[in-house]
Order: sequence, then C-alpha cells, then structure tokens
Amino acid sequence: MVRFTEKILEELPSVIRGLTFDGEKGLFIHTTQGKKPSLTLSAVEDGAEVLRTTARWMVEFTEYCGKKNLYPAVIGIEGREIQFGLGTNYDEAVRGEGVSSIVSLPPSTNRNDVVRDKIVLVTGGAQGFGEGMVRSLSEMGAFVYIADMNRQGAEDLASSLNYVACITVAKALYVNVTDEASVEAMMDEVARQTGGLDLFVSNAGVLRAGSVKQMKLKDFQFVTDVDYTGFFLCSKHASIMMALQNTASGSYFTDLITISSKSGLEGSNKNAAYAGAKFGTIGLTQSFALELVEDNIKVNAICPGNFLDGPLWSDPEKGLFVQYLKTGKVPGAETVKDVRKFYEAKVPMNRGCQTEDVVRAICYIVEQKYETGQAVPVTGGQVMLN
Ligand SMILES: NC(=O)c1ccc[n+]([C@@H]2O[C@H](COP(=O)([O-])OP(=O)(O)OC[C@H]3O[C@@H](n4cnc5c(N)ncnc54)[C@H](O)[C@@H]3O)[C@@H](O)[C@H]2O)c1
Repeated sequence: MVRFTEKILEELPSVIRGLTFDGEKGLFIHTTQGKKPSLTLSAVEDGAEVLRTTARWMVEFTEYCGKKNLYPAVIGIEGREIQFGLGTNYDEAVRGEGVSSIVSLPPSTNRNDVVRDKIVLVTGGAQGFGEGMVRSLSEMGAFVYIADMNRQGAEDLASSLNYVACITVAKALYVNVTDEASVEAMMDEVARQTGGLDLFVSNAGVLRAGSVKQMKLKDFQFVTDVDYTGFFLCSKHASIMMALQNTASGSYFTDLITISSKSGLEGSNKNAAYAGAKFGTIGLTQSFALELVEDNIKVNAICPGNFLDGPLWSDPEKGLFVQYLKTGKVPGAETVKDVRKFYEAKVPMNRGCQTEDVVRAICYIVEQKYETGQAVPVTGGQVMLN
C-alpha cells in the first residue's frame, strides 16, 4: 500500500499525468506557481493512501471534464502552493492557458505513430546511436529529453530540433548515469517539466577493450559503472515515476529499454568488461521485467550489431578502425577501408547496424503490449538466438 509522503508529494505531477491518461498517453503536466487554477483538487492528508486519494481526484477530475467538455488549463491542490499547467504539448503546458481539445482518437495501428505526443528520454543522446534515436523519435512526433554528460552537445541538438519544429520538442538534461544524485535530479526535473515519461531509453555506454591478463581494475570498473550500474540507477528512478503515472488508471503502459549489444549475447574477445556488463543488463532486464509488470512497465533490451558509421568505429583519430589498423588486429589490412570490409563481412547482411534499425526495434517494443523481459537482437543475422 503506497502512502503519501513528502517525497511522493514532490512526485505529484506524475500522479496527475496518470489522471489524464487517454488510453495511449497522458498530457504534459508542467509545475508552476501563481496561476489561477481552473480545477482545485481536494487536499491530501498526510499519510493518506495514494490509491484512495487518486481515486477521489479521478472523480473530481472526470466530473470537471464531463461538465465543461474540456481539460482544466491549470490544476491546483487545496492547501498547496504549486499548480500544474496542462497541455497536449510542452509549450501549451507551460502557458497553462488551456488545453487545445480532449482528444479521443482510436489508437493508431501505424507503427510510426507509436511515440506521437509521447514523452521520451534518451541517455547518451548527444551523439552516436543516441543522437540518431533522438532525431528519429522527434521526427515521429515524440517530445524528447536528451540526457547526457556532454551538456553542450545535448543543448545544441535540442536547440536545432526546436528551431526546425518552431515549438519545444526537445530539452537537454545533464546527467552522469553512474551518480545516483545526478540521476535523481534528472528525474525530478522531468517531473517538474512534463510530469512524467512514456519511454526511457538507457543508451549511455562506454567501451574499454583489453586482455583479461592486462586490464586495469579501474578500467574494468569504469565500463561496469556506466554500462551496468547506470542502467540500474536509471531504471530505479524512472520506474518510480512510471509507477506513479500508472496509479490512477492501472492501465498506463510504459517502457524501459536498455541498449545492450550483440556482445550481451555472446562473448567478445579481449573485450570482457564490456561484454560482461552488457550480458548483465540482460539479467537486470529480465529481473526488472518480472517485478515491474505489476506497474505496467515493460522492460526490454535491444542488442545492436556494430554501428560502423558511428564515432566509436569511424572517428578518424580515436575510432576502432584506425586503432585496429595500427595494431594489426586485422591480418593483411592496409587501409581503414580494409578493416571496415573485414567487419562487414562478418555480418550475413554485409553491413553495419544503423540507428534506423535500432529505432525500428524501439517502435516494435513500444507497440507490442504482450512482451516483456526480452532481448531483441538487431545484428543483420550476425548473432542468432538459440
Ligand atoms: N557503436 C556500436 O557499435 C554499438 C554496438 C552495440 C551497442 N552499442 C551501445 O549503444 C550505446 C551507444 O553507443 P554509441 O556507439 O552511440 O556511443 P558513443 O560513444 O558514440 O555515445 C555515447 C554517449 O553517451 C554519453 N555518456 C557516456 N558516459 C556517460 C555517463 N556516465 N552519463 C551520461 N552520459 C554518458 C557520451 O557523452 C555520449 O554522448 C552504448 O550503450 C553502446 O554500448 C554500440
């Protein structure tokens, strides 16, 4: 039985977002002050049961919408100073001047619509696979948080997407996924800005290759902290928010997706720290999935093959192609092109993984309402499940 505590009071926007659930998603809920509420929900008693209170609010909220055939522009709570602006998009919620309409469209069967008007967060979204995901999900109509340690990169990407869209469709957030206080602060900011999330993509990752005989403990731990522990910390704080969103209706499905790797499905020579962490994320995925099913949170992993066009491989100075050429890892290779060909030839489909391939898997997972705890390979046939 979840009771209201001061901490949960800070997370009220997620409960309110759950009240606006339309069968696919909730509205944007922006925390504000000093506005005139159109609807004031009855007071929360300390220690009251969350379920009982949200049931009461649901009645008050539904009565208001039924009478006015409108959503309230701003919701207040008796005895509290904070208010919540509602909107079908971020800018509308910030203005708190009215919600454009009560939308009651049937759920779309078009996979391209599965993230439309939803709120998505991508860690490590400033470059590489993450940047590609941010761009594609934004093109499909999602509002995207770009959460990265590279603050400038995240801000530049958000500005360019907002400039093209002419409304706010993306926001940059600083996060270090290995630091719990930083992850918690990121989620608190999400609660204040939009009231919650529909999809969390745990994508931030690092790789340090090396022989088991020579690898330094600090390098091993660096990889494990980001790739494994980072996924735990993000899942912990995202799932608290997602569970609150589900409280009102009990049917608000959300998704946690981790970007594992083909190295999460089979061992990787002289790359044990990375493969071990990526295997580990699949263990976490299965275990979180079993627990979080009661909150309608689906938890799945995607296991991409090598992103040969991304900076990790193609960077002209530090990229793996250059490194492998210099160290003679690929027998007979004389140019970067030879090294690339060698890796392409390992893939039955004869090419590297692209972000579109990963985004298709994300859309499939979000659309699919009868699957959780899975690891979806996206490897052009290089790794097959058995
Ligand atoms: N590149 C590949 O071939 C490949 C293949 C399979 C899976 N993956 C996985 O896909 C994900 C993205 O890989 P990529 O190649 O695009 O990486 P990348 O190095 O190009 O980008 C990683 C991003 O994560 C950010 N980041 C790193 N540490 C962070 C931290 N502690 N907190 C917050 N942000 C942090 C970086 O600033 C960067 O923007 C990783 O999880 C990776 O393991 C990559």
